[in-house]
Amino acid sequence: MRRLILPMPGNEALAAALAQACDGEAGRVETRRFPDGESYVRLHGDPAGRPVDLVCTLARPDPGFLGLVFAADAARELGATEVTLVAPYLAYMRQDVRFQPGECISSRSFARLLSSSFDRLLTVDPHLHRYAALSAIYTMPTATLQAAPLLADWIAAHVAAPLVVGPDAESEQWAGAIATRIGAPHVVLRKTRLGDRSVRIDVPDLSRWRDRTPVLVDDIASSGRTLAEAARGLAAQGLPRAECVVVHALFADGAFEALAPLFARISSTDSVPHPSNGIALAPLLADALQRDLRD
Ligand code: R5P
Repeated sequence: MRRLILPMPGNEALAAALAQACDGEAGRVETRRFPDGESYVRLHGDPAGRPVDLVCTLARPDPGFLGLVFAADAARELGATEVTLVAPYLAYMRQDVRFQPGECISSRSFARLLSSSFDRLLTVDPHLHRYAALSAIYTMPTATLQAAPLLADWIAAHVAAPLVVGPDAESEQWAGAIATRIGAPHVVLRKTRLGDRSVRIDVPDLSRWRDRTPVLVDDIASSGRTLAEAARGLAAQGLPRAECVVVHALFADGAFEALAPLFARISSTDSVPHPSNGIALAPLLADALQRDLRD
């Protein structure tokens, strides 16, 4: 039986592309608020006897979270054989330790909540820093897909003589993989985080790369401060204006507008709908959706 692919509000474009790529049936989830603010959810499309995929990127997850859980419960109660969450951006991965006494390790709580509502999770480049894999906190089968090959192919097609630049030690995994795939050099900068919206970036001597276009790559652009400081550091060394390619275009209020003048261009995957989206994830997700998920 064809899979039923249901987008939560705001995820219609990706769900339609997924349905087309894996010959699924596109359904609809109706949501609204009752007068008292509680969530109303109704599925349009019959889940009985077939796998159901709820498509919901988890950027800014809090307002829609209950609706997502209600939709998953409804699909299961209505006979879905399996309920998969397709969340190309997975939230709450960065609070992976108690940085200050008394803090909630929200990555763990969020993982427990999702694992109790869904049978499988499909995501792209979750922020795995202190956790080696999602299985450290998620108890359902998961698939962690890598966008690096897509970023690499985009860079190869759009930037002549790139120098791949990771803004911090954590980005070495993406910068290194991208550079290897396209046969370009790469460097990694050093970041010190001073606060939610404040970072310091130290740039090594890059004078030997002045004939190359720096391409900053990162998994997440949130406040944009990491990318902004990195771009300023590269410009201070006399390199050409940088390109920027990110996986998850979160761009908190005003971040994109502040970053745009610093770069020749900013591009992203469509894991989070944003005007900078230029790299489609649907083929990657559709392929994984039809396989057993095992990280
Ligand atoms: C953190 O280590 C990530 O890889 C990103 O560099 C970070 O989340 C970006 O955050 P912001 O845009 O707020 O500087």
